[in-house]
Amino acid sequence: MKDFTRRDFLKTAGIAGGGLVLSSSLLRAQGKKAGDTLNIALIGIGAEGEILLNSLLKLPNLNFVAVCDIWKPRCTYGFRRIFREVKQKPEQYEDYKDVIKNHAKDLDAVVIATPDFWHSPMTCDFLEAGVNVYCEKMMSDTIEGAKKMVRAARKSGKLLQIGHQRKSNPRYIFARDKMLKEGKVCGRIMACNGQWNRAVTKDLTWPKNQEIPEETLKKYGYKDMAQFRNWRWDKGLGGGAISDLGAHQIDVFAWFLDANPKNVVASGSKEYYKKDWSDNVMCIFEYDNPDKTQVFYQVLTTTSSGGGYFESFMGDEGTLKMSENPALTKLFKENNGPDWEPLVEKGLIGKVESTNADAKIADSRESKPPMEFGFPEKIPGYDPDKPIHMPHLENFLGAVRGENKLNCDAEHAYAAEAVVFKAREASESGEKLAFQASDFVVED
Ligand SMILES: NC(=O)c1ccc[n+]([C@@H]2O[C@H](COP(=O)([O-])OP(=O)(O)OC[C@H]3O[C@@H](n4cnc5c(N)ncnc54)[C@H](O)[C@@H]3O)[C@@H](O)[C@H]2O)c1
Repeated sequence: MKDFTRRDFLKTAGIAGGGLVLSSSLLRAQGKKAGDTLNIALIGIGAEGEILLNSLLKLPNLNFVAVCDIWKPRCTYGFRRIFREVKQKPEQYEDYKDVIKNHAKDLDAVVIATPDFWHSPMTCDFLEAGVNVYCEKMMSDTIEGAKKMVRAARKSGKLLQIGHQRKSNPRYIFARDKMLKEGKVCGRIMACNGQWNRAVTKDLTWPKNQEIPEETLKKYGYKDMAQFRNWRWDKGLGGGAISDLGAHQIDVFAWFLDANPKNVVASGSKEYYKKDWSDNVMCIFEYDNPDKTQVFYQVLTTTSSGGGYFESFMGDEGTLKMSENPALTKLFKENNGPDWEPLVEKGLIGKVESTNADAKIADSRESKPPMEFGFPEKIPGYDPDKPIHMPHLENFLGAVRGENKLNCDAEHAYAAEAVVFKAREASESGEKLAFQASDFVVED
């Protein structure tokens, strides 16, 4: 598969919206088969690395070869969890290059959960050394960094999965494939509305007896401990809230609509925290799909009120409100839309949860509140007790064992993240920016 090119990609895969129309040529043999034990390393065991580790520790047939983190307490934490829970003793490293030097030839997979500006160099180096990579989103803090990752994956013939975990979430897959595509529950989707509203947070701190020496911080690109802990907000390290949180949801719009946007207009505010990147961003995208959908998306880091985080698909027959949190997921039927009983019978949607018949309206010209339906009781592959990142890791490890295709390979992740980069650019400049077809693919 070494000579897989962009042309092959364009021929075989639907890039619009990261639609997973992949040919079997993307099922790359990695010399492993179902049930094989995989040698794995974990790079970056901060907040997200710990969440991924929680899932990895529950998965069978993994041999933890190495853990790596430049912050000693986090590296030790990773080691201790693995020792305590699966009785393995991975080697501990500060520098990922030593993991490559000492283990690359035996490693089947690496999971990278470091700050964004480290993703591209680490991913490219591991791929080049012949190791399959699961790397957290955003692919990189820069579009150039993301392009390098796509090219490195192509050149190496190794697998690169990006951590947009909704792509493997059975509820999301069911909602897209069954409710929207097969059942067409929303009718014509004229609008989408998404948000991630977070409460004010203080800057992250650190125990004073656990400071990383200044020369170590400098070696890894941090000016001091405060920047090391709060890298998300700084240009050159992270991408701010629109990239950190928006990346997940902007990806969902493209995926569900099966389309890329034509343009974006956005506004960002830096008035609250006075950081490099905006506190709050509001964007409007116009999508180039048959429905001609307009999408409004906002990310707030100054208030948590207003319903948390969700993506709504609002059509002339119904509205599907998706969230990683099942409690926030809703399905509304427009009063003048078609009867949904046949969809209930086919198992494409659940039963009526509320008719809203008694809802009070202030004025007779107001629309009557729509009926609410649930999701079907059984959704294939959905286990409410499974952590939300686990299916995406399982999908990656399954692909390494040749059992399945990746749900979020580098090419598709790039197409989705190109939208995030442009939305961020629009929020900085205040200009309406157009997308070209070439924005969604990486040239060789
Ligand atoms: N998929 C998701 O839902 C999700 C959620 C949160 C974060 N993330 C992503 O995960 C990544 C990490 O975020 P986080 O919240 O865990 O950040 P964090 O700051 O809590 O953790 C980062 C860890 O990486 C370590 N580190 C920093 N530079 C390193 C280097 N050069 N080599 C080795 N280790 C290094 C730090 O010491 C720290 O332990 C980010 O890319 C973020 O976007 C994804």
